[in-house]
Amino acid sequence: MKSIFLDTLNNKKISRPPVWFMRQAGRILPSYQKLKSKHSFSEMMNDPDLAAQVTLLPIKDLGVDAAILFSDILIVPEALGMGLEFTNKGPLFDNPLTKYELPSKELKKDTTKLSHVYDNISKVLETRDANTPLIGFCGGPLTTFCFMFRGNVRDTTFHDAIKFLYSNPKESMKILDALVDVSLEYVRNQAKSGIECFQLFETYSGLIPEKMYRDKILPLSKKILNEARECGLPTIFFPKNFGNGLNYINKDVCDYVSIDWQMDLEHARNIVDNEVGIQGNIDPRILFSSYSEIQEYLSSLIPFGQKNNDWIINLGHGFLPDIDYKKARFVVEWIKETNWNR
Ligand code: CP3
Repeated sequence: MKSIFLDTLNNKKISRPPVWFMRQAGRILPSYQKLKSKHSFSEMMNDPDLAAQVTLLPIKDLGVDAAILFSDILIVPEALGMGLEFTNKGPLFDNPLTKYELPSKELKKDTTKLSHVYDNISKVLETRDANTPLIGFCGGPLTTFCFMFRGNVRDTTFHDAIKFLYSNPKESMKILDALVDVSLEYVRNQAKSGIECFQLFETYSGLIPEKMYRDKILPLSKKILNEARECGLPTIFFPKNFGNGLNYINKDVCDYVSIDWQMDLEHARNIVDNEVGIQGNIDPRILFSSYSEIQEYLSSLIPFGQKNNDWIINLGHGFLPDIDYKKARFVVEWIKETNWNR
C-alpha cells in the first residue's frame, strides 16, 4: 500500500504531514446525512454494506489520508450484556450500572455481539481504493466506564460514575477489568480482520487527577494498546484533557499520542517523550471562522510541520455537527498543496 499516513507511522521522511479527522465518518457530511435520513445509526453500524460505505465517505468527500471504521466505542459494554440505544439526544443504556450495588455481577460477557464489526472491516477492505489505510478503535477504560453509569444524556460531568469510582474502588476495578478483557479480544479480532492502525479514545481522562489516571487507569489503557502493538499495529492514544499528564506518555504506552485543542502543540511536543509521535490538534471551532482566518491559522503550523516528521494532522477533538464540510475539505486541500519545507 502506498500511504503517506502509514509511511509517517513507520518513521519514513515524507514531504508533508498526513491528515485525517476524528469523527470524520459521520456528523458533517451531507452524504452521511442523506443516508441517515433513510437508516438509523444502529442500522448503518450493523449492515456491512452501509458501514463500509460510510467509513469510506470522507476519503471521497474530504480527501483525507486514512479512513476510520464507522462504529462506536459503546458497543463494548453491549458485549458485556448492557442494552444500548442511540436516541436523538445521544446514547443511552437501558440499565445504567448506577442502579446496582454490585454492578460487576450484572455484566454478562457475550463477544458475539461484536462480530458485525469484523464483517464491516472485511467489507471496507473489499471495497476501498488500494491505497486507503483503515484505522480501528476502541474506547479507553475510563471513558467507557463513565458512559456505563450514565442514566441521563445531559450529564457531561459523569457524576455517578466518578462518585462510584471514589466510593467503591475495588468494585470499580472489577468493572474496568471486565472492560479490558473484552477490549483485548476486540482489538485482536479487529487486527485479524485487517485494520492497519489502532486508536484508543480516552475522551474523559481529564475527569480525575493526572496522577490518579496514571496510577489506576493508564496501566489498563496500556494493556489494550500493547495488545494492538503485539498484533503488529501502530498505536495512537487520545487522552483528552490529560494536561501535563502527557509527561507520563512514552514508547511503552503508544507510538503516537493525540493532543486535544486545549494544549499548545509545541508545549505538548516538549513534554511528551521524544520517541512518541504527535497527532492533533486543530481546534474544531476554527472551522467556524472565515476561509482566510483558517488559512492564517494553518500557515502558523508550517514551522511545526517542518521540524516534526512524526506529526499527523488531526482535530483536538471530533467535528461538531454544525461545521460546514467544505471548510474541512479546504483544510485537507491546503495541507496537500502547501510546501512544508521538508
Ligand atoms: O470518527 C468517526 O466518525 C468514526 C466513528 C465514531 C463514532 N463515535 C460514530 C458516532 C467514533 C470513533 C466514535 C467514538 C466515540 N463515541 C467517542 C470518543 C470520541 C469522542 O468524540 O469523544 C465517544 C465518547 C462516543 C459516544 C457517543 N456516541 C456519543 C456521546 C454520541 C452522541 C453524540 C454524537 O457524537 O453525535 C454517539 C453517537 C455517534 N457515534 C454518532 C456517530 C456518527 C451520531 C449518531 C447519529 O448520527 O445520530
